[in-house]
Amino acid sequence: MKPSRIAIIGLGLIGGSLARALKRADAGLRIGAVDLDEKAVQSALGEQAIDAAGGLSEVCSGANLVIIAAPPLAAPAILRELEKCTAPDAVITDVASVKGHLAEALAALPAGFRSRVVPGHPLAGSEQSGFQASKADLFLDRNVVLTPLDDTDSAAIAAVHDMWRKLGANVLAMSAARHDRILALTSHLPHLLAFAVADLLTRREAGPDVNRYAASGFADFTRLAASDPDLWADILSANSSAAGEALDALADDLKQMRRALAKNDRAALDKRLRRGRLARERFNLARGDELKPHSRSDPGFQKSSQKNFLVQPGGSIKGRIRVPGDKSISHRVVILGSLAEGVTNVSGFLEGEDALNTLAAFRELGVTIAGPENGCLRIYGVGVKGLLAPRKPLYMGNAGTAMRLLAGVLAGQEFASELHGDESLSARPMNRIIEPLSAMGARIGAESGGLPPLRLNGGAADGLRGIDYDMPVASAQVKSCLLLAGLYADGVTTVREPGPCRDHTERMLRGFGVRLEAGPEKGSIGIRGGQALTAASIDIPGDVSSAAFFMVAAAITPGSAVTLEHVGVNPTRTGVIDILRQMGADIRLRNERQSGGEPVADIEVRYRPLHGVDIDGEQIALAIDEFPALLIAAACADGETRVRGAGELRVKESDRIDAMARGLSVLGIENETWPDGIRVVGGEPGGGVIDSHGDHRIAMAFAVAGLRCRAAVTIRNCANVATSFPGFATLARKAGLDIAESDLIP
Ligand code: S3P
Repeated sequence: MKPSRIAIIGLGLIGGSLARALKRADAGLRIGAVDLDEKAVQSALGEQAIDAAGGLSEVCSGANLVIIAAPPLAAPAILRELEKCTAPDAVITDVASVKGHLAEALAALPAGFRSRVVPGHPLAGSEQSGFQASKADLFLDRNVVLTPLDDTDSAAIAAVHDMWRKLGANVLAMSAARHDRILALTSHLPHLLAFAVADLLTRREAGPDVNRYAASGFADFTRLAASDPDLWADILSANSSAAGEALDALADDLKQMRRALAKNDRAALDKRLRRGRLARERFNLARGDELKPHSRSDPGFQKSSQKNFLVQPGGSIKGRIRVPGDKSISHRVVILGSLAEGVTNVSGFLEGEDALNTLAAFRELGVTIAGPENGCLRIYGVGVKGLLAPRKPLYMGNAGTAMRLLAGVLAGQEFASELHGDESLSARPMNRIIEPLSAMGARIGAESGGLPPLRLNGGAADGLRGIDYDMPVASAQVKSCLLLAGLYADGVTTVREPGPCRDHTERMLRGFGVRLEAGPEKGSIGIRGGQALTAASIDIPGDVSSAAFFMVAAAITPGSAVTLEHVGVNPTRTGVIDILRQMGADIRLRNERQSGGEPVADIEVRYRPLHGVDIDGEQIALAIDEFPALLIAAACADGETRVRGAGELRVKESDRIDAMARGLSVLGIENETWPDGIRVVGGEPGGGVIDSHGDHRIAMAFAVAGLRCRAAVTIRNCANVATSFPGFATLARKAGLDIAESDLIP
């Protein structure tokens, strides 16, 4: 649905700004407004921000999009009116800063009407109010939160999402309850306090000159008290329960501070204030993150915060551990959920930077995604043909999987797009996908040598056509990229892999109802273009690649016994278990089951002395991400380990052969490298300072090596651990590793 006739109820700051912004984005839109304030109506008409004004049913009955921009407490009555007067296909949204009470009001209305109401809240505004304060760019680069209900219609959500994108806003989504809890803390409580503190001064210290003693701190703190009291009384009472809880929590904090003051407990006060300042610093950092650089030339391209791990020798690994969700599956669920028809519910999603970049990219492509909240997502799919042109380059950070898989999807679109990455990703080879995609008819530009950024011109002359492709390397990213492009191609796209590599894309495509065609020979898979995807529910298991660090940690350290719960054990990923067992490790799979179309198990690992092995052939691709960890096992094993046929390790997040060889040498472990592999002679690792080269897996591998080192190990440049394993150091510490994090460069 393309809104062409819009009704705005309420011409205050937000309603007025919406009218101006919508007109500026599309002068052809017809905008009608409802407001009792005749002055505002006349100004809006005079400034041609609106075309017409009138009573509610008069203005709204002919609209195909109605925006309620009235104070929150007015919304229930307005909704009841709209149910009577709007066209059956009109979409309705609102802008109120409280969402729970709207959801309650909607629950009492007929389902058919309710499904076309998309509650929303632009996180924009100012302490000024009224039409005279409105401006067309109020929503530019601001976040808008949608809080769809379980039965909100996907097309209605897409229409509202699209409207906000056109006004320059970023669209997020969450449940109404969470929205109200968060807004109580981020907005409602600060407003309440500003009003209260502004008032307190004049109540406690009468006298005309008292304001002279209030400097910029008072002015900054009480700025919000310039807001419209009427509106804020409305907001606070609409969100009385969450705002009340926030106030209670603050009152408890204040009581503690009061006690500290009474006792003149300077240390307690200092601790509280420091915590507050740290929180504020984190807030500023996180805000900076939202403005992430989009290309290598942008200042701030390098991560500003250096993180280092400091590991003391000794200890053992014990207990039950749950590692974060699988990174490969997390990327794929966002991609397929976005392209599906219907709502995909996800649990176990990896809230690491890589997968979050994929999520942000699909939001920019017009998909509404609620979450992540405790690993849960709700993806409102737009269908294979429903993506919208991005307004800026899509930033993939460190994630090769995201860049290569998205390239497959974007190659099939009519619109142009760009894919950028961080320094490491900008040096990774993309010809492996550019060549076959070009053979399918895609037009792709890259830097010399086939390096990112990638420019996908879209609208391939005659659309994409299926090809028959023999992959030169066993790469799941290439295979997945081509299968996704194949969804958009004429005919069948067939990919043959030289050896087995992870098959999450195939499994998940099937789970979303896509028919794949297994070729006559082993390792060949085909997809016919033009198929639709149907939404599914997916529970993502723990990432075996993250679990691998704890498997190795337990396998190399006397006294260790660990259970890794709910880990994905897809046979195309379990090379690490097979290789560790060949080395003599004691690993048992318990409670094997299926979850979300993937095999899952609890993995028990106990210490047992290891010995060196030879690794090559098909084993390589099945353990491709686990070599950093496996080479640490080799360093602690008896005898030599030789890895051959693993040239791919040189083009991962770092050159992993080189990075591991250098680190092992620092620890005094004898090794030798070849173009396609490495030889490691087991021994007794020492200590020292190791550079992870910004590679998450190199960093975590040397961290667990610390368990067996004779001296302390410092690992530099570990910030990227957050790409795949947020909270690694905390979890490792709980399990028994003596690891600390530091921002200081050793
Ligand atoms: C991945 C495939 C592998 C792996 C990467 C994730 C995927 O890369 O190393 O971490 O999710 O498809 P290649 O396909 O390049 O081997």
